[in-house]
Amino acid sequence: MDMPDPERLPASDRGGEADIAVHWPEEPLVPPPRNLRRPPHIAEPGLRERFRRDRFPAYFDEYAQLLTWNRRWDRTLDSDHPPFYRWFVGGTLNASVNCVDRHLPGRAGAPALIFVPEAEADPPQIVTYRELFDRVNALAAYLARGLGAVAGERVTLHLPMTPDLPVAMLACARLGLPHSVVFSGFSGEACGLRIADSRSRFLITMDGYFRNGRWVDLREAADRAYRVAHAQGHAPERVLVLPRTPGHWRSERPLRAPVEADLEAELAGYRSAREPARELASDHPLFLMYTSGTTGRPKGVQHNLGGYLAYAAGTTYYYQDLDPEDVYWCMADIGWITGHTYIVYGPLALGAQVVLYEGIPTYPDPERPWRIAERLGVTVFHTSPTAIRQLRRLAPNGPGRHRTSFRLLTSVGEPIEPETWHWYHAEVGRGAASVLDTWWQTETGGILCSTAPGIDPMKPGSAGPGVLGIHPQIRDEDGRIIPPGSHRAGALVIPHPWPGQMATIWGDPRRYVETYFQRFNTSPESTDWNDWPYLTGDGAVQAADGYFRILGRIDDVINVAGHRLGAKEIESACLTVPGIAEAAVVPVNDPVKGRCPEAYVSLRSGTDPSPELADRVTRAIESRIGKIARPTHVWIVADMPKTRSGKILRRVLSAISNGRPPGDLTTLANPEVVAEIERRVRSKD
Ligand code: WT7
Repeated sequence: MDMPDPERLPASDRGGEADIAVHWPEEPLVPPPRNLRRPPHIAEPGLRERFRRDRFPAYFDEYAQLLTWNRRWDRTLDSDHPPFYRWFVGGTLNASVNCVDRHLPGRAGAPALIFVPEAEADPPQIVTYRELFDRVNALAAYLARGLGAVAGERVTLHLPMTPDLPVAMLACARLGLPHSVVFSGFSGEACGLRIADSRSRFLITMDGYFRNGRWVDLREAADRAYRVAHAQGHAPERVLVLPRTPGHWRSERPLRAPVEADLEAELAGYRSAREPARELASDHPLFLMYTSGTTGRPKGVQHNLGGYLAYAAGTTYYYQDLDPEDVYWCMADIGWITGHTYIVYGPLALGAQVVLYEGIPTYPDPERPWRIAERLGVTVFHTSPTAIRQLRRLAPNGPGRHRTSFRLLTSVGEPIEPETWHWYHAEVGRGAASVLDTWWQTETGGILCSTAPGIDPMKPGSAGPGVLGIHPQIRDEDGRIIPPGSHRAGALVIPHPWPGQMATIWGDPRRYVETYFQRFNTSPESTDWNDWPYLTGDGAVQAADGYFRILGRIDDVINVAGHRLGAKEIESACLTVPGIAEAAVVPVNDPVKGRCPEAYVSLRSGTDPSPELADRVTRAIESRIGKIARPTHVWIVADMPKTRSGKILRRVLSAISNGRPPGDLTTLANPEVVAEIERRVRSKD
């Protein structure tokens, strides 16, 4: 009765995540912990009412007021040209001032970053707000005076989880240089394509980093990135390389002048330099974050300064509930949007103490996170369901063996199923912490659905209601609103703009309109934002109490361990292998990672199937995208199930990969191939 009915999802024949979502029954509400202080700003009477729909958009001024502005805005929202919006129009500010300078009076000596190297023998290193200020200024001064960087020019950062990454982001922000951080686990090729697409003037990278006890070299990736970008017609002017450990180069590879330079040496003359923060318009681009979509080409999601930063600060304030006394640890990587908003911009804007951990949660053993939390006194902890599942599986009693003091535990990136939720709540939080399942996306800048910590009852397996000022809806195939409590799944949309919303796709405004708005827009000429609901790409159901349960993507995006990959992107990588004729990549349920990609390929005539060929496909995916995109299996098949018009029916392959009946085959031109594929996959042959 309370199971969502996925039949009605606006997804089609794709076999998207929402189609294969493992549904769980609606769970009863869990009251917020009683022994917890009720956060006064969240418990404030009238807060919800102030953010009611009829007060849109004025209520978002409250978020902007959390920031320091050079000049106050005249207009909250300019929606004259939907779906292109400008927030806090007329206002000017600087993100590095908000995240660093403004905390100096009073908090100069307080920790901004607490860096925890992966090697446990290396003690945590504290970077105070004063030191952060010095380092941001030095790098900004070098970029501006040494290299002549000018506001608006892009900088790609291929950096791992050390303080150098937030320092580089904030130095860019100080000058108005939009940064494009590429996750350090992405390959050199993926980095090169992003350098070319963003037309970045500079690449800042590192000699390498430590991961799972091993040294990972990034020098080779930088070399490849340069060559790929060059081949695309846009090589970066300079490649600036930092050593992972100051004063100690680990890579043998020589720096090739004049393009490559040792950034540590370059900075020598700027250590005590001060670089004035540029006063920037609220709609100046702050950063690009490339993410996967339905096509083979990743898109540069552009976030603009004032709206994004206000939304980051506001949601961090109300939903991560941080204040300067908190020791806060978000275990995500800054190379993803979670790290941008909830490691760097949100927490630093509020002057919090932010833990930055270099390595993986299970190194050297799955109790490491609890040792770190105990040692540093972490009060608020943020991670992904995949990490929780891993830690639970490997050391179910691990948290109980440590004296941790969490008051708030948050989760992001994928659905957290009730079983995992209860472990997080009972074992990690000892039943005394709030647990938040926060739902959002790269495009949304910050959290869109969550319960309020310490206030709202929690519901395991449900993200909760829209956050303050966000009023999501579920729509059916025809765009009609599905009312709460109807148990019908549909497309999750946000029917109004909000400050954290992406500004556009870098260099491709048309794709922005087509991807996010075309589906439910009925009058393309309309200048009323009400006609431009934002399509999230997720399927969801809304319970009678207004809480949303996210089922997963209804497009060709696969969420692997909370990381977003495009099925088409992986398919393009398969097709680079000689002999491969066709490729189809589908999501398969995984007990730890949520979902994993699985690949089906067919061969050109004259090419013989072999395990080596399947290996070559896997290696092509790793080198084009990165190890995270590695498929669980590469099935070489004689033919793909196809419609009469020649379209591959991924839905059928996805059903087979997930052990479900392949469903209706009447539209297939070649139904006979299905039984053979099924037999092979079932017998893991
Ligand atoms: C997709 C966005 C924004 C954080 C990191 C991922 C899925 C995200 C949840 C959640 C169920 C979730 C959605 C979404 N997702 N959070 N709490 N419950 N699903 O950002 O890489 O842009 O991926 O992640 O499918 O669309 P992203």
